[in-house]
Amino acid sequence: MRKVNIGIIGCGNISSIYLENLTRTFANTQVIAVSDFSEERMAAAAETYNIPNQWTAEQILSSEEVELVVNLTTPGDHYRICRLALESGKHVYVEKPLSLSPSEGQQLVELAREKGLLLGGAPDTFLGAGLQTCRKLIDDGYIGQPVAATAFMLGHGHESWHPNPAFYYQAGGGPMFDMGPYYLTALVSLLGPVQTVAGMTSKSFEQRTITSQPHFGKKIDVEIPTHVAGTLRFHSGAVATMITSFDVWSSTLPPIEIYGTQGTLRVPDPNTFGGPIELRPAGASEFKEIPLVHQYAENSRGIGVSDMADCIVNGGVPRANGELAQHVLEIMHAFHTSSDKGVYAELQSSCEQPRPLKTGLVKGYLD
Ligand SMILES: NC(=O)c1ccc[n+]([C@@H]2O[C@H](COP(=O)([O-])OP(=O)(O)OC[C@H]3O[C@@H](n4cnc5c(N)ncnc54)[C@H](O)[C@@H]3O)[C@@H](O)[C@H]2O)c1
Repeated sequence: MRKVNIGIIGCGNISSIYLENLTRTFANTQVIAVSDFSEERMAAAAETYNIPNQWTAEQILSSEEVELVVNLTTPGDHYRICRLALESGKHVYVEKPLSLSPSEGQQLVELAREKGLLLGGAPDTFLGAGLQTCRKLIDDGYIGQPVAATAFMLGHGHESWHPNPAFYYQAGGGPMFDMGPYYLTALVSLLGPVQTVAGMTSKSFEQRTITSQPHFGKKIDVEIPTHVAGTLRFHSGAVATMITSFDVWSSTLPPIEIYGTQGTLRVPDPNTFGGPIELRPAGASEFKEIPLVHQYAENSRGIGVSDMADCIVNGGVPRANGELAQHVLEIMHAFHTSSDKGVYAELQSSCEQPRPLKTGLVKGYLD
């Protein structure tokens, strides 16, 4: 099987699981270069995963060998590096979110289209065994026609554990931009694209106190909404209720539930690849756990990159593609603009519901 040559830009926190899977799990990917401003992090990544080249981002972008750039920098650099990669004739896959603003995201989608290159974006958890089994249950009619859904991510923010949590309370942060991509990508994968969003946001605390080290006791000013609630109408007609919050100490609300004409499906945490899944058909007296019927229940970050590599070699549209990532980015902004303006937000973007994966795949392969 031909392996697609990958250059990774950004060897921070999330990079090790990508390096692990792109060098050891997937059969059609090989990482030929890594890059990071920190020589220490770059060298550690190269040594641990046996990567032959430690290059600058510019060297990766100008290399004739690199076909696909994986952009694992922080959100403020996503647009710039993706744009440079596309202008250099490389396919590019980027961590979430696609960009900071929907207009930047749209420019990337259009640039990739003009250049005939592939653009992909995280998250790819919707390709895991948990969410793929849910997709199959819905597609096979186990809950009838989906009519509604709920999605809840309620917590009290990251200042209790993250060593440097201030950015979560500045522009580009907040619960929707941090966790919304997982929930919304899962919902779009299960129910299709969204047409309209009604949002309401609030900021319950003007300041937060860091209780993690090394900044224990330091106060952070909150510059953005930290409770984001709203309703989504899908093109299919289904209506979902969603809350993402950093203002809630505890809650019993489940991550995602899908309500159909013939039953209810309890969907696993969309920030994971596994289960559990529970189904309660109409008339049944209780929920029953459903076994996962797909491969990739463990942390398979990078599966979207492998799928993209498959499309580079064989043609086709990657599942975790730029249109999907752009649609999710626009939905996240729509909650905020709807709240700010006091009107429904009609979405400009749309996307295809990504193709499901087959059951019974051999680990490391997507076909
Ligand atoms: N950390 C997580 O648990 C996690 C989980 C899911 C998604 N993500 C996403 O992954 C992305 C990266 O997050 P992270 O936590 O790994 O961040 P990080 O800050 O730990 O790592 C980013 C790295 O990119 C490097 N970098 C930035 N610009 C560069 C350039 N031009 N050339 C070379 N290196 C450059 C930085 O030096 C840094 O080491 C973010 O978009 C985040 O939303 C992170």
